[in-house]
Amino acid sequence: MTVSHDHSVLVVDYGAQYAQLIARRVRECKVYSEIIPHETSAEEIKRRAPSGLILSGGPMSVYEDGAPGIDPAVFDLGIPVLGICYGTQLMARELGGTVEPTGTREYGKTDLVVVEEGVLLDDLPLEQTVWMSHGDTITTAPSGFKTLAHTAVSPVAAMESVERGLFGVQFHPEVVHTPAGMEILKNFLYKGCDCLPTWTMSSVIEDSVADIRARVGKEKIICGLSGGVDSAVAAVLVHKALGDQLTCVFVDTGMLRMNEAQEVVETFGRHHQMKLIHVDAAERFLAKLEGVTDPEVKRKTIGETFIRVFEEVARELKDTKFLVQGTLYPDIIESGTKDAARIKSHHNVGGLPEDMDFELIEPLRALFKDEVRAVGEELGLPEEIVWRQPFPGPGLAVRIIGEVTAERLDILRRADAIVIEEIKRANLYREIWQSFAVLPCIKSVGVMGDGRTYAYPIVLRAVTSEDAMTADWARIPYEVLERISSRVINEVAGVNRVAYDISSKPPSTIEWE
Ligand code: XMP
Repeated sequence: MTVSHDHSVLVVDYGAQYAQLIARRVRECKVYSEIIPHETSAEEIKRRAPSGLILSGGPMSVYEDGAPGIDPAVFDLGIPVLGICYGTQLMARELGGTVEPTGTREYGKTDLVVVEEGVLLDDLPLEQTVWMSHGDTITTAPSGFKTLAHTAVSPVAAMESVERGLFGVQFHPEVVHTPAGMEILKNFLYKGCDCLPTWTMSSVIEDSVADIRARVGKEKIICGLSGGVDSAVAAVLVHKALGDQLTCVFVDTGMLRMNEAQEVVETFGRHHQMKLIHVDAAERFLAKLEGVTDPEVKRKTIGETFIRVFEEVARELKDTKFLVQGTLYPDIIESGTKDAARIKSHHNVGGLPEDMDFELIEPLRALFKDEVRAVGEELGLPEEIVWRQPFPGPGLAVRIIGEVTAERLDILRRADAIVIEEIKRANLYREIWQSFAVLPCIKSVGVMGDGRTYAYPIVLRAVTSEDAMTADWARIPYEVLERISSRVINEVAGVNRVAYDISSKPPSTIEWE
C-alpha cells in the first residue's frame, strides 16, 4: 500500500522488539509510523521527508564492538528526533555529550524527578515512575541541550534542544510501566514535530481504496479466502474499491472448523454480495492424506493440494492480472529490515505458488494484526470473523495426531465446536490467543453406564500469547474445564476422556504438529 499520510514518523530499529512497540504506540497517537533499519542513510531519510524520527532502544552498549551507529548527518536534517535509551545514548555521544558505563544496571520501575521545564515533559507531574533498562548512562548532555530530569543513577534521564528539534529519554516511554509514557510521546509528536492526530482506521480505508483503484484500474483481480481475519479484511477492502472486478476463491479443504465454510459463504457471498467461488475439495484432500502420519508430509501434502486446486480455479478465471494477499506489516518488517530482496519470499504467504503470473495487491502490508481487526470492524465485518482466533493453514489435520480420516475429523470438529462454545460462554474467547481440541490417535479404557468403553481422548489446548512466538497455557477456571470435559465426553461419540495441556511455548509449541 502506498501511504499518503499528512504526517509520518520513522522509527529507527536498534533492536526489533523495541522498535515495533514504539511504532505501535505512535500509531495509537493517530500518527502513522514505519520502522526503518538503522543502516538507513541520512539522505534516504531526507528523501522520505518524515515529520519526525525516533531512535529506538536496543540490547547493546554503544561501546560494544559492532554496536550499531547512526549517520550523524541525521541530526542536521531539520527533522525532529527523539532518542529512546540506546537511541539517546547515540545522540548524546555523536553530539559531544558523555556516555559512561555506570557499573550498576538501572532496571525496572524507577523514580524520575523533573528539574527543568520544556517540551518533552510538558504538563507532566514533577515526580513520576518510569521504566529503565540500561547499563550505560549519559553523564553530561551535549552542549546546547537542557537536562530535563534525573533519577538516582541517571543524571541526564531526559534532555532536549528545542532549537535543534532534538529530544532524548534514557527510560522507555513506550512500555506500560511508564504511566506517563504516552503523554511524553504525544508531546514529542504534537509539540516537537507538529504532527496532527489524523491517522485513523477510516483514513487507512480511504487511502487504501484510492491506492487499489489507481493500481488495478479496470483489470480483474482474485483473492483466496481462508476464513481467517486477514484474508477476510483484505477481500472486503478490495471489494469496496473495485466491486465486481473482484472474485474471491474459497477452497474448502474439509479440514475446517464447524460451520466455517457456511459462514464464509454467508458473509462474503450473501452479506457482502461478492463474487465467490466455493470449491468443495474435501474428498480430494482426504484421499491425498490417506496413510499419511508424518506431520511434515501432512503439511506438504495439504499445501501442495491447495495450490493445485487454486491454480485450476485461477486458470478458469482468464484475464485476471492481480492477486490479493493478506500480508501484514510484521511479515514485511521481518524480511525487510535485514535485506530488501527477501521481501519477495513473503509474496507467497498463505501457500500460494510463486510461479503464478499475478501482480500482487497487499492492502494490509502496513498494518499490525490489531489494526487489521479495527479496519475489519470499520468495514462492517461480523464479530465472528474479525475476532476469530488464529487457525493454522493445514487446519484440523495438524490437530489429529496420526492419520487423518473422515471419522476422526468428525470427532475433532465436534469436540472443537464445544470447546469454542464454552470458552465464548465464559467470556474468555478474546483474552485467550487460541483455544482448541486435539485428537491424539490413541485409545484408553473408560466406563459409561455399566459398560466398558475403549475410545479416543481429546486434549484441550488453550494458550495466552502476544504474537504466537511464545505462549503460556491459559489458567482456565476449573468450572469451565469441567463443563468442557463433561460436554465433550457426553456429546461426542467416540471420546471417553479429556486432558488439559499445561505446557508453555517454548519448550512446546502451540499446535501439536
Ligand atoms: P506453533 O504451533 O508453531 O504455532 O507454536 C504458532 C502459530 O502459528 C499457527 N500455525 C500455522 N499457521 N499455517 C498457518 O497459517 C501453518 O502451517 C501453521 N502452523 C502453525 C498456530 O496456529 C499458531 O497460531
